[in-house]
Amino acid sequence: MANIISRPDWYIPDSQVTPEHAYRNRRDFLKKAGFLGAAALMSQAMNAQAENSLYPAKRSGIHNPGWRLTDEEVATSYNNFYEFTTRKTGVKDLVGLFNTSPWEVKVGGLCEKPASFDVDGLSRQMGLEERVYHFRCVEAWAMTVPWTGFPLAKLLRKVQPKPEARFVKFVTAFKQDEMPGVVRLPDYPWPYTEGLRMDEAMHDLTMVVTGIYGKPLPKQNGAPIRIVVPWKYGYKSIKSIVSIELVKEQPKTLWETLSPEEYPFESNVEPEVPHPRWSQATHRIVDTGERVRTLPYNGYANQVARLYKK
Ligand code: MTE
Repeated sequence: MANIISRPDWYIPDSQVTPEHAYRNRRDFLKKAGFLGAAALMSQAMNAQAENSLYPAKRSGIHNPGWRLTDEEVATSYNNFYEFTTRKTGVKDLVGLFNTSPWEVKVGGLCEKPASFDVDGLSRQMGLEERVYHFRCVEAWAMTVPWTGFPLAKLLRKVQPKPEARFVKFVTAFKQDEMPGVVRLPDYPWPYTEGLRMDEAMHDLTMVVTGIYGKPLPKQNGAPIRIVVPWKYGYKSIKSIVSIELVKEQPKTLWETLSPEEYPFESNVEPEVPHPRWSQATHRIVDTGERVRTLPYNGYANQVARLYKK
């Protein structure tokens, strides 16, 4: 033990000593990193500010029928979002790890000008408005919600669909590490996929939605961008989309694949056609518990019935 030289605690072997030039470069780097860190914070703050400037959007004169709105707390805490859980009141507590920014949506397939968009850029390009719609779930509950967004037709016209495009296919993000529900439902044909006929997609009522109650969409309601089709059962209103594709063949949707008799592709609200396991004649208003009569096409017959004339 005698030849062991005891070393002070601060001893650093020569191999670990930083040469002066590297040390200087590192100081420059740290300065730059500090600057970049500040720049990142600034850009985050600017994003938040930019987002703030988008909400609340002006409420549309046409789609503002003076209906009583569903209580916001209820509409944002009673959700169907199976990627997280099948328990409606549990979704909002399980979306914490779900990263919705940055987010890119691809619009492509059979069109002349396929493109990718970030949600804020797209919102700015398209212009946002608020519309109050009735929303009817296939499970016979409903709410009345002020959605913020723009008509899907406006976006589709921008990418110039080719004549052979007959359907639009929508796909939700699939992030196993951030969506605890997908692991619990391994037999589901993820990612969540939905579709519309081209004329349904081009109908003015079909909305791309980025906000609710005058604010950006909460994650549990499909942040940062979803579709809302008010005359169809709620499962057609697909959440957290990453892709919109113009296609020739009718796309296979998640629910149709699981149970075609219960959840067919078209799925318009039809009170006289019962679900195989329950009646669709009435529904429950989610916040008041009131039971009311369901209307054909969820009350939008004047606007959409012509699409289904045989
Ligand atoms: N989209 C995805 N990706 N996953 C889902 O589980 N559920 C659908 C629809 N979109 C669902 C989805 C169903 S069944 C309904 S009723 C509505 O979202 C519910 O929307 P809300 O939670 O904003 O009320």
